[in-house]
Amino acid sequence: MDAHKQLTIGLFGFGVVGEGLYKVLQQTPSLKASIKKVCIKHSGKIRNAPASLFTTEKEDLLFDENINVIVEVIDDANAAFEIVSIALRNGKAVVSASKKMIAEHLPEILQMQQETGLPFLYEASACASIPVIRNLEEYYDNDLLHAIKAIVNGSTNFILTKMFEEKLDFQSALLLAQQSGFAESNPKLDVEGYDAVNKWAILLNHAYGIVEHPDNILFTGIQHIQLSDAAVAKEKNYDIKLIAQAKKLKNGQVAAFVLPQFVKLNEPLAFVKNEYNGVVIESGFADKQFFYGKGAGSFPTASAVLSDIAALRYDYRYEYKKLYHHHPHELTHDYYLKVYLSFDDWKYIRREKFEWIEEWHADADRKYLIGVLHVNQLTGGNWWRENGSSLILSIDPIIDNLDIINLKKRSLELAGIV
Ligand code: HSE
Repeated sequence: MDAHKQLTIGLFGFGVVGEGLYKVLQQTPSLKASIKKVCIKHSGKIRNAPASLFTTEKEDLLFDENINVIVEVIDDANAAFEIVSIALRNGKAVVSASKKMIAEHLPEILQMQQETGLPFLYEASACASIPVIRNLEEYYDNDLLHAIKAIVNGSTNFILTKMFEEKLDFQSALLLAQQSGFAESNPKLDVEGYDAVNKWAILLNHAYGIVEHPDNILFTGIQHIQLSDAAVAKEKNYDIKLIAQAKKLKNGQVAAFVLPQFVKLNEPLAFVKNEYNGVVIESGFADKQFFYGKGAGSFPTASAVLSDIAALRYDYRYEYKKLYHHHPHELTHDYYLKVYLSFDDWKYIRREKFEWIEEWHADADRKYLIGVLHVNQLTGGNWWRENGSSLILSIDPIIDNLDIINLKKRSLELAGIV
């Protein structure tokens, strides 16, 4: 597309993000992008836009030859995939915010882009207003990206902030996140970590060339965290955050997961409150960099969609450099993690799952331990999130296989066992 060409948009969805985009586009006439039609599911609702703009027939957009861009911001991942597929195959550029759809269909989406040569952009799908996908794609060379640690879900971060800093109970905090338009229509996707792991699957591709279904990435959400865990965190001068993390191990493979984690209060991610997201990137020469911005909500998400629409003007496409132009990294489940686990009764905890245990405490109603285990102990069973148990990673949790023997020896020496 050349810079003078009019972008004529067919928009799918007029919810929090769709309506935000409609308003934002009205305030940016210089972009020369206008919405010709909006496809919605239910025609009965009153909407803040002329009725003539709306249709319930997807064909009105997908087969209109004057529409050259499809923007898709709907909630239903299966319908979204169908829309994207038809649009690309009909020669239209596509912008999407559907993280679940993209994460679950990455191989097909990559193939369609190769076959059609058309742009498919989705900056809004991870960390909303933070331009993290284009950054990972364009800026960092494959070998220099050592680690990424991020808060990628606004709702859970909002809930943790409200619960632990403003003493709101979980249900009230969730309701507030829903009323503010941050939460998914099924809030289980936020609370239990599904949304975060979908975003992480997308970012792992742009960071390391990893194409992995979210089901194969270790994750949980904030549903098991208890007030007693927050009290332990406070005692140790930590915060608790739902953290998505990836780290290149010494053998070049990548350890990656989304789990609750203790964060030191002076770390950048501890500074990320409410619906904000944050990304800390560790690279070879630049050392640590921190990206921060709103990760959910109408205008912050619309701003990323807008930026993708603007990028279509110069035919920007993701090249998937780490996947196609480098030797892509592999995801591994062969490393160790240092974890805190709180629980109601010792009978739920099997000692043999741990390589070693460094600390344990028992109050009348709640017990906890800090220990090191192989990640297979978590991927291979649910014991750590059943019976009211709550697992939170230590501040620097990943232990490389090559370091485990020395660390184990040192820890046993400290405990006076050898
Ligand atoms: N439910 C998502 C979140 C919306 O809370 O982060 C933005 O992707």
